[in-house]
Amino acid sequence: MQLKIETTCPTVWKFDYESKDPELDELYELAKKNQWNVTTDIDWEHGIREDSDILDRGENALAHSNFFKSLSKQTQNDLMANQAAFTLSQFLHGEQGALLCCGQLVDAVPDIQGKLYAATQVVDEARHVEVFHKYLTMLDKSYPITSGLKNVLDAILSAEKWQAKCVGMNIMVESLAMGSFRNMLVSAQDPTLKEIVRLTSRDEARHVSFGIIALQDELPNLSDEERAELEDFAFTALTLLTGRDGDGRVPEGTARAVQPIIDAGIDPQEMAAALAKEREEGAMDPMQAVRSRSLFRDYMILNLERVGLVTDRVRPQYLEAGFLQAE
Ligand SMILES: [Fe+2]
Ligand SMILES: [Fe+2]
Repeated sequence: MQLKIETTCPTVWKFDYESKDPELDELYELAKKNQWNVTTDIDWEHGIREDSDILDRGENALAHSNFFKSLSKQTQNDLMANQAAFTLSQFLHGEQGALLCCGQLVDAVPDIQGKLYAATQVVDEARHVEVFHKYLTMLDKSYPITSGLKNVLDAILSAEKWQAKCVGMNIMVESLAMGSFRNMLVSAQDPTLKEIVRLTSRDEARHVSFGIIALQDELPNLSDEERAELEDFAFTALTLLTGRDGDGRVPEGTARAVQPIIDAGIDPQEMAAALAKEREEGAMDPMQAVRSRSLFRDYMILNLERVGLVTDRVRPQYLEAGFLQAE
């Protein structure tokens, strides 16, 4: 796995210190006001409840399947615990990617107000890395980053233009994070985790707002060619994130999505076949697939549409890949 990412994105000075964007001023004020401290604003004394799942299994379609019910109690518990650790580990790695990307945005955005705002996001993301690392340490279980997440973050970090970084991070990855956090706010059983997710998602909402404000201001200034480049970058990032980009190889040091299943002592192929059969027979709750599909559509693609990056030129690609459905 590559740890050093090269970028040719230029660092830009700005000597006009007057803000010309009241909307960004407001967001910057909100960011300063809503800072919180991982050490003092979370009640760590609770610890983790050992007697129950940290995520509600009632919210997990897998837990409703006959396959799951056929497993021993111990294997069921292990699988739920592993899956929760896997999801939270991806949050942690995503937060580090966001931290690195925001540092680049401070350098690269051309306006002073954008630089000041992005600096608050750097602190936010540092706090998110801190909080998820602390929680995962308590959980005593963690997983490496998946190749899909690493690939999309690398594409964003190595992008040459700040606009691409802003689309990839603030519109796409942040929208997906915000959707995931909102789901987790419903499913979190552990009060410490619930509080972490509540505070983190409040920060993420600001980060998405920054992406929307910055890009809505910037897009009219771009040439047709630059705009098309940005639309293509967004689509490529989507294929990377969903793992549809390549040969399915998993680079050394990254995690496969089946690892939590294997670690619970279950054969993933056997499980996939059993679940496929249940689905065919109509015995399985289709909610999980619906939920993850709508995470992409209701948050990420909706915000790409909102800033005007799903144009008639690229819409057919979205339809063909199944990211959108014909009306
Ligand atoms: Fe974050
Ligand atoms: Fe963020």
